[in-house]
Amino acid sequence: MKLISGSSNLPLATKIAQYLNIETIDLEISKFANGEKRVWIKDDIAGENICLVQSFDQPVDENIVETLLLIDALERAGARHINFIIPWMGYSLQDKVFRDGEPIAARVIANIISNTYIKRVSLLDLHNSSIPGFFSIPTHHILALKPFTKYVQDNFNLSAAVIVSPDFGGLKRARTFADTLSLELENIDKHRDLYTGKVTPKGLSGDVKDKVCIIYDDVINTGGTVVETAKFLKEKGAREVHFLITHGLFAGDGLAKMNDESIDSVVITNSVHHENLPDKIKIVDVAPVLGESIRAWI
Ligand code: R5P
Repeated sequence: MKLISGSSNLPLATKIAQYLNIETIDLEISKFANGEKRVWIKDDIAGENICLVQSFDQPVDENIVETLLLIDALERAGARHINFIIPWMGYSLQDKVFRDGEPIAARVIANIISNTYIKRVSLLDLHNSSIPGFFSIPTHHILALKPFTKYVQDNFNLSAAVIVSPDFGGLKRARTFADTLSLELENIDKHRDLYTGKVTPKGLSGDVKDKVCIIYDDVINTGGTVVETAKFLKEKGAREVHFLITHGLFAGDGLAKMNDESIDSVVITNSVHHENLPDKIKIVDVAPVLGESIRAWI
């Protein structure tokens, strides 16, 4: 097997290749003068099994088109099978019709990918565990549970710690994490205005006074959930508030929001690439868990 990386997250793709001890494919990605993407696979890959790595983060639509061009080029160059690792699946938050007249965008993207030469897909910590069912090809839904569990064991004194789900949607995910660490679980009743996106925590299931709260979630998008959750828990008497969240998108002013003094630390994975993050934000490597998902096809 050889690995090919789209342009969204070359550092993660390189780590996956190193972890699996496989070669990376030489390619050139550029743009024509009119703005169209141009991809060129330079190595001979005929008959090879391929691992393609591409996150659908910003520029989202451009990265999706680039991926489709790469898949076509790989097929034409004689690739045998393509395993596609999507560390962050853009459009996955649009997993249902929130308001009449809207599409189910996650399904649209899954349909497009399913109708290419891709053989199977690995997805990481999806917002909704039903999304793999939107694909009509085999999928692996990988969890970042293992590296996050190790991070907590290595970095926190667990005697006063409690796991908190920031909303009902994340309760099952947070329950699994709390059980793995043998910690108590609390849940926030979060409200989001569908028109403005504004997040308002409305209630808490238990007591967090003097507790070290560890919030476990899937994605930081605009950062509204993180900052409002931290303020809310501090108002309820939490001693510290830390966030372990798989995908750090930091849309808009999301990164600046992380400076809020109510947030003690934010731990994300390298599913989305960022340069020069502030010290308050730590990175956990998911290359091993993603690499393991395709080891059987090397
Ligand atoms: C929501 O249900 C998700 O699990 C995240 O909490 C949410 O998408 C985060 O979005 P934002 O950072 O914009 O509040």
